[in-house]
Amino acid sequence: MLIRGTFVHAPHLKGLEIHYDHLICVDKDGIITQFAPANAPESAKFLEAHPEIPVSEVPSGSFILPTFCDLHLHAPQFLYQGTGLDLPLMQWLDRYALKAELRMDEDSTLARRVYTRLAARLKENGTGSVLLFGTIKEATNLILAECMQAAGIRAFVGKLSMDIDITSPESTTKTYVEPSARAALETARSFVGHCRGIAAHLPVSQRLVEPVLTPRFVPTCTDELLHGLGALSAELGVKVQSHLAEAKDQVEWVRALRGIEDIDVFDKGTLLTPRTIQAHCTFLTAPDFDRLNACGTAIAHCPLSNAYFSAKPFPLREALDQGVKVGLGTDVAGGYSLDIMNAMRQAVVVSRMREGERQMDASANSADISIDWKEALYLATRGGSQALGLAGVFAVGAPFDAQEIHLYDPRTGQGIGSLDYFDLESDHGGPGVDNMPLTLEHVEKWWCIGDTRNRGAVWVQGNEIRNV
Ligand code: GUN
Ligand code: FE
Repeated sequence: MLIRGTFVHAPHLKGLEIHYDHLICVDKDGIITQFAPANAPESAKFLEAHPEIPVSEVPSGSFILPTFCDLHLHAPQFLYQGTGLDLPLMQWLDRYALKAELRMDEDSTLARRVYTRLAARLKENGTGSVLLFGTIKEATNLILAECMQAAGIRAFVGKLSMDIDITSPESTTKTYVEPSARAALETARSFVGHCRGIAAHLPVSQRLVEPVLTPRFVPTCTDELLHGLGALSAELGVKVQSHLAEAKDQVEWVRALRGIEDIDVFDKGTLLTPRTIQAHCTFLTAPDFDRLNACGTAIAHCPLSNAYFSAKPFPLREALDQGVKVGLGTDVAGGYSLDIMNAMRQAVVVSRMREGERQMDASANSADISIDWKEALYLATRGGSQALGLAGVFAVGAPFDAQEIHLYDPRTGQGIGSLDYFDLESDHGGPGVDNMPLTLEHVEKWWCIGDTRNRGAVWVQGNEIRNV
């Protein structure tokens, strides 16, 4: 496949790049083999050597961006997305989350319907890779993995491990728990094998799903289970995900029942590894971030869900300054939006409120702790991807995971979707008008007010998984 046009990506936190009139070559395995200016000698040479390959031209007024990475999403909770955000975390889990998860485990037809729809919505929102929490039952998680593989989405699928029941006596949910640490560990091992088997008949490059060990969070897991999962991760080289220091009621729950901090529980369980992604980490401080950085453990920052459950904002700048890998998560259904563009905007908004607070503190002599839209775009693409061992940029040797963004239609002279361009003579005019090149301002405007109407094709591993 050959695509010629404007490419935008963020290889570094402070380094959003626009590559004008570039030619990208993608081989049959979906790997980028060349990425250079269209008029560079290597591009001309490739085109001369392969006259049989058609070149897809990205229209002026459009650009190609890496797909988004959603680093934290509860697939079964998609069932009740956008409802029931009226309780603190521990009560919310009891009232809504566990109930939805149990329903999915009891009804495989419903699970397939919900997960098929979830995959379609992810594509619509430009999410090409996703780290998923599933349910307890192995078979339901295999359905989830099958749905994602069939949809062409790169999915890291976590079967929940939990051997402590947190359902309340008043709960209408029966217990939602595995019978013992031993049974939970056996099922976790079994799931890893079966999940890896789902795409085993396909060429390696087309295997898009991967199992992830998923101790739900400290309140639902005994030390025995956590230790066992730590050992299993090391033995099988499997990624790990959990929730760490998320909410006031959750942190207090762990202190009251275990007399210890979340981070120390995971550390003792050998679960802080370079293969680990921890959601939230809202209650961590700079020395904790230092620890995570030393372990190579990444953080999934979920600003919307934090606003409902955490009681305080995540210290994002501090985590980044300590060198921790950070990506963005929607945390559906603790967050109501599946769109990573919303997570980017919320991350900026929250960081700006934190910066305002810092400025009001007369004793503050530290630096600005807000992040800007370009940094958020890095987190949504490269940041999250790196946490999962993926690329998230356009580079030779990386898989072609990309989305086409349309800003302006030169034929009609109109912006697309919610984008309007009034001052067409100046730098603020529409990209593509009289061949005006795409500017940072054009990308910024899309970042602020663009939506799914601006999205065209989406590719994962070179396969076009959405075509509009
Ligand atoms: N902590 C443990 N389980 C959950 C969950 O399902 N959602 C959120 N937001 N936090 C959790
Ligand atoms: Fe979560």
